[in-house]
Amino acid sequence: MAATRRTTVRRNRDADWDAWPVGPYLAENYRWMHPCDRGVIHHHSRFYRRFAPGGLTRTLELGAGPNLYPLMLAAGAARRIDALEPSAANLAYLRRQLTYGPDESWEPFYALCRTLDPALPATLPEALGRVRVIRGDAGDLVDGRYDTASMNFVAESVTEDFGEFAALCTAFVRSVRPGGRLVASFMERMPSYRIGAGPLWPACPVDASALRAVFAHQTVSLRLTHLAKDPTLPEYGDTGVLLLTAERPAP
Ligand SMILES: C[S@@+](CC[C@H](N)C(=O)[O-])C[C@H]1O[C@@H](n2cnc3c(N)ncnc32)[C@H](O)[C@@H]1O
Repeated sequence: MAATRRTTVRRNRDADWDAWPVGPYLAENYRWMHPCDRGVIHHHSRFYRRFAPGGLTRTLELGAGPNLYPLMLAAGAARRIDALEPSAANLAYLRRQLTYGPDESWEPFYALCRTLDPALPATLPEALGRVRVIRGDAGDLVDGRYDTASMNFVAESVTEDFGEFAALCTAFVRSVRPGGRLVASFMERMPSYRIGAGPLWPACPVDASALRAVFAHQTVSLRLTHLAKDPTLPEYGDTGVLLLTAERPAP
């Protein structure tokens, strides 16, 4: 029998984000520090160290998921960090971490963040005290609200539709005020993926030229950095990670 090929493009609303598999996702990606986490942390820490401690009034983590290290990194510079997330499962995890204290597995991540940026609060719970967990998605963003915005493995990992990927990136850019800065990470060329033996989540394979096509005309000081494929992660079909920094231009 001939193999059947799926022809429909799955958009963001077609996936059940409330059912995101928090436990298996953490187990595959964040229960210990993978080489690519180290790469992202070094890159993002450099980004935040350019700001004075407490110099950012309000920052965004878009599609925060259950990943605490982008929130830790922002705490060196931000007085308030909004973790915007649509998934009920991820919101519940984030709220538990903030209310009852973070899982021990996050401590080595915080130790590295604090070694790189001694301006970070003495403890991880203190750093997370700056985080507000907010239910919502990219469609809820208000133009120009934030001083900086961060997005990690979101726009390319939540839709198969390139137009929708681009619209999500545009909402991300517009979430910061003119002159505000952006930091982001993207799985490179990752097709739709599974966490463990779970359902297929929609993704849009992107490379550096796709990121330039989406970001170059609406930002300045765009910089892309490549991290090699991490062999310690499950085989997601990616070719590495792309890291981005940019600035929303003044009008
Ligand atoms: C692959 S996970 C990445 C999670 C986390 N940022 C990380 O670094 O591991 C994709 C995340 O995007 C969220 N998401 C899905 N659709 C979204 C949307 N339209 N706007 C913002 N976030 C969305 C999901 O709930 C999930 O938390």
